[in-house]
Amino acid sequence: MELEEAITERKSIRAFKKDPVPKELIEEVLQRATRAPSAINLQPWEFVVVMGEERERLGRLLLRSYRERRTSCSPGAKGPLPEKLAKRGATSFEVMKPYLDESGIRFEEFFNEGSCRFYDAPVAIIICMNKIFSHRRYLCIGAALGYLVLAAHSLGLGTCPIGLITAYEDEIKDFLNIPDDREVVLAVALGYPDWNSPINKFKTPREPLEEIIRWFD
Ligand SMILES: Cc1cc2nc3c(=O)[nH]c(=O)nc-3n(C[C@H](O)[C@H](O)[C@H](O)COP(=O)(O)O)c2cc1C
Repeated sequence: MELEEAITERKSIRAFKKDPVPKELIEEVLQRATRAPSAINLQPWEFVVVMGEERERLGRLLLRSYRERRTSCSPGAKGPLPEKLAKRGATSFEVMKPYLDESGIRFEEFFNEGSCRFYDAPVAIIICMNKIFSHRRYLCIGAALGYLVLAAHSLGLGTCPIGLITAYEDEIKDFLNIPDDREVVLAVALGYPDWNSPINKFKTPREPLEEIIRWFD
């Protein structure tokens, strides 16, 4: 698949087929993800791949923690978002709503509980970083995430990055034996997209370029 096609077509997938993903294919996705640039080529990313019964158990654990603590998907901003920025999130939710209504799913529960269950994807990739690194190295993790989602798409797989689960970092580290000197930065749900689900039918919009670029020429 051409890069341009992958960039244009890719979107977050929130309904997956049950089919397992072969280990070699996951390795190929991660191999391509790690071709991403990183400062001083430090490659600060580490991946914990969770599949099968362990994936199910981890999802159940996070769902239980969510129901106890109710930490939800949020912008994670330092203060209230200015109207213009808040509108971006709201616009995306408006785009999704009819498709959720069609499935009879409540919005809040869909996102929060769905994220904790990795949207029932057969694979959850937990991305970790050694705490020795400064917060600037999140940029490198972000670059790898970008490569990962595009590589997965080009190999016929779907992904959804899941930041919500970091609220339950202690439970994840305990369950997966992740050492204390590692930080859980993000998870990615991975699997074959269920294209029959209404949940996968919408596409989120983007701001027009004139809103986000200033030129000096
Ligand atoms: C760092 C990060 C964290 C995210 N966390 C979540 C999440 O917890 N749950 C979820 O459903 N989607 C999550 N997403 C997916 C975004 O909602 C999605 O990328 C955005 O709405 C744009 O849609 P698109 O990916 O379909 O283009 C996250 C994306 C990123 C980059």
